[in-house]
Formats: sequence, C-alpha cells, structure tokens
Amino acid sequence: MVKFPENFYFGSATSSTQSEGAHSIDGKGKDIWDLWYEEEPFKFHDEIGPENTSTFYKNYKSDIQLLKKTGHNSFRTSISWSRMFPEGYGEVNEKAVAFYRDVFEEMRKNDIEPFVNLFHFDMPVAMQEIGGWENREVVNHYAAFAKKCFELFGDIVKRWFTFNEPIVHVECGYLQQYHYPCKVDPKAAVQVAYHTALASALAIKEYHALNQGGKIGIVLNLTPAYPRSENPADVKAAQIAELFANKSFLDPSVKGEYDPMLIEIIKKHDLMPTYTEEDNAVIKENTVDFLGVNYYQPVRVCARASLPNPEAPFMPSYYYDPYVMPGRKMNPYRGWEIYPRGIYDIAINIKENYGNIEWMITENGMGVENEERFRVDGQIQDDYRIEFYKDHLTWLAKGIEAGSNCVGYHVWTFIDCWSWLNAYKNRYGLIELDLETQERRIKKSGYWFNELNKNHGF
Ligand code: BG6
Repeated sequence: MVKFPENFYFGSATSSTQSEGAHSIDGKGKDIWDLWYEEEPFKFHDEIGPENTSTFYKNYKSDIQLLKKTGHNSFRTSISWSRMFPEGYGEVNEKAVAFYRDVFEEMRKNDIEPFVNLFHFDMPVAMQEIGGWENREVVNHYAAFAKKCFELFGDIVKRWFTFNEPIVHVECGYLQQYHYPCKVDPKAAVQVAYHTALASALAIKEYHALNQGGKIGIVLNLTPAYPRSENPADVKAAQIAELFANKSFLDPSVKGEYDPMLIEIIKKHDLMPTYTEEDNAVIKENTVDFLGVNYYQPVRVCARASLPNPEAPFMPSYYYDPYVMPGRKMNPYRGWEIYPRGIYDIAINIKENYGNIEWMITENGMGVENEERFRVDGQIQDDYRIEFYKDHLTWLAKGIEAGSNCVGYHVWTFIDCWSWLNAYKNRYGLIELDLETQERRIKKSGYWFNELNKNHGF
C-alpha cells in the first residue's frame, strides 16, 4: 500500500474567477478577465466568459457538502481582489466580506481546513488601468488588500498563499499573449516579475506583523527542466530553462534573493527592472513559511539548433529549443506531458536545495475533453484520472520516504471549472458539472478520492 501520514492534507484547489460566477453582482468590480472577455470574446473557448463559471458564489453551502462527500479535509480557493475592493483600494465591499467569511466558517464547521490564496491571475481593472504589476503603486495596494484579508479572516484562516503561479501572469501577460494585457514586452515582464516578488514579500511582512499564529506561503508551478542529453550544451540549456521557469520565483520566495546567473542574463539583455535597495531588503527579509507546488508537466529542452534572431523580442527560449522525448506520455487534450517521476525530483530538489522547507502539492490533475463518452449508468468512469493520481502519489510517497517535508496533496480540481481561455473544453473535476442545469454529479474519481483520505493512502 502507498501510505501517507494521518494528518496529511488531502483536498483540491480552485480559484475565485474560475468557480464563483456572479461577476456582475453584489458590488464586484471588474477584473481583467471580465474586461478581456468584453473586448475579445472570440478568444475564449465556445465564447464562455467568467460570468458563467460554476456558481460557487450561489451554491457554496451545498458544494461544501460535496467536498465532504469526496473526502476533503482541506480546500484551497482564492479571494477576489476586485470583489473585495472594486476599485482595487479604498472602501471594502461588505457583501464580499460576508460571502468569504461565511464560506470559511462553513468549511471550518465541516472540518475542512481553508487554504486561501490572494491572487490567482485576477488583476482588478482599476489597477490594470494604472499599469497593473508594472506600477510600483499597485504593489502597495495589493499589500493593503492582503492586510485587510488577514485582519478580516485571519481568525479562521490559518494557511495563506500570496500568489498562485506568479510566473504565469508574467509570461502569459507580457510575453505570450495568453493573459491580459497581451503584451510582448520582455522589459515589462521582468518588471512585473520583480514587483510580484516584492508584493508577495510585503504581504508576508504584513501577515507576520499581525502574529495570528498561522502560516503564509506562495504557490509555484514547478516544471523541472530536463536536458535532452548529458552533452554540456544540452545541460546548459536546461540550467537556463530552470532559471527562468522555476528559480525566478523559488529563489526570492524561499531564499530572499535571485540566482546570480539569472541576474547576469537579465543584465546582458538590458532588461534590469527598476528597483530600490529598500525593496530588495523587503524581499530578503520576508520569505515564505511554506511552499505550495503545482505540478502538471516537466520542461524538456536541448541546445538551440539555430541562432536566435537578434531583432526578435527576448524570450527565455533564446537559450534553448523544446525537446520532444521519444516515447513520452502525453495528455493529448491539454498537450502536456505526463511524467509522474517529476514530483519526486521536485521533492528532492526542495529537500536538498531549499532547506527542506515545509511544502505541499497544491495542484496536480488531468483535463480531459468530452468526458461524457465515459459515462456508464449515469456516472463518469474516469479511471484515467485515478491512474494519474495514483502514479503521482506513488512518486510523492517516495519523496516523503526520502525525507522531503511534504504535508499535503491537493488535486485540480473539485467541480469541473472554467479554465481561462479554454473555458470548459477540458474537464478536471472529481465532480461533473452539467453546464445546462448546473447539476453536480460525483465521478468515479470523487468516490476514489474519498477512500484515499479515509485510508490515508491506497
Ligand atoms: C494551473 C492554474 O496552471 O492549472 C489553474 O493554477 C488552471 O488556474 C490549471 O486552471 C489547469 O490549467 P488549464 O489551463 O488547463 O485550466
């Protein structure tokens, strides 16, 4: 049997934008997803926007009962900044306060530990209008929002995260055009990354000053970078991919500083952000108490076959080509490689290079298109998902056995949810969502997950 400690956190994660719906009621201000959908709805799969996400705002009480039924002892969601502060700062929206307070209380009543994240790609429009993360002032507004959340909910929330996958809003928003503001501007990307690391550190500072007896961390999507071969050129390519994809946030968050090699590359390309020594000191002195790791796929790279175009805007891939490993296993619906052993490599990396800090898997999952074809007697038989979880948990258990300080495993996600530009194309849930009726039906994996927690393993 693959066993986990008795007090191991088993649960799942979602985010406010992807689950709440109700984007235009009860005083919520617009976030960049509302704005982008208004401007370019054709970019969203089937033209489904954030207003129509899985109605958690309305149904949270019965949804929390479903969390119980599927064996959750913990659950992560996020607080929407623009629901709390429609203008990004100023007067707090009392309806939002009442909603989140009730959600967290209801979870506690049902013995479900709330893990609460403060930013999941959802910049308020009012903040984006003054430059978003490019503007140092927005960092202060975020810190004030974070402080208010700690003051309002810190008595019942004891596990906080400052950001979810910060590298994603950097890359997707400022290099690759998968997130608003859809810029291709490497200089802005570096500034946004620096300001995000600073915002996280400032929130940690505020939290620690309040002495509420909980812990605060950050959620990073770690994608271990593997070289094609041991050839020194391939190894170097992987080392640089690792710097951009993982160390760019892992190092400031856990060690309070950037890898000198990353700084050297940023300088070489004339991309250094504006910063002050005072802000560097904030990053240095306010590191995380624990770490959340989202793991979906590795990154495989090799030395570039051709010279980069010197005129093209800088991308990290200036230093490497993607490598397609023969025989790799794929999730064809998402186009992501499935490599369960990566979770073990992450566990050992954290143990050996990051002081064996406490950490947990905060997302791991498999999105599948057209799941209705697996329905038997009314229930979706998602055996592929159960296999996916088992394979990853097996490697996670090996990492724990080797001494890595992992305290939990959260899957993505609980109820099928809206996936940004992919909307409802790929379904990830333990529970099926009927888009027409909003009815929820537990999948085979949901019942399996319940057994997993009950037995502390499988
Ligand atoms: C993570 C995010 O990157 O992966 C989630 O934290 C996201 O917000 C999940 O939904 C799955 O990715 P996608 O793009 O298929 O929804």
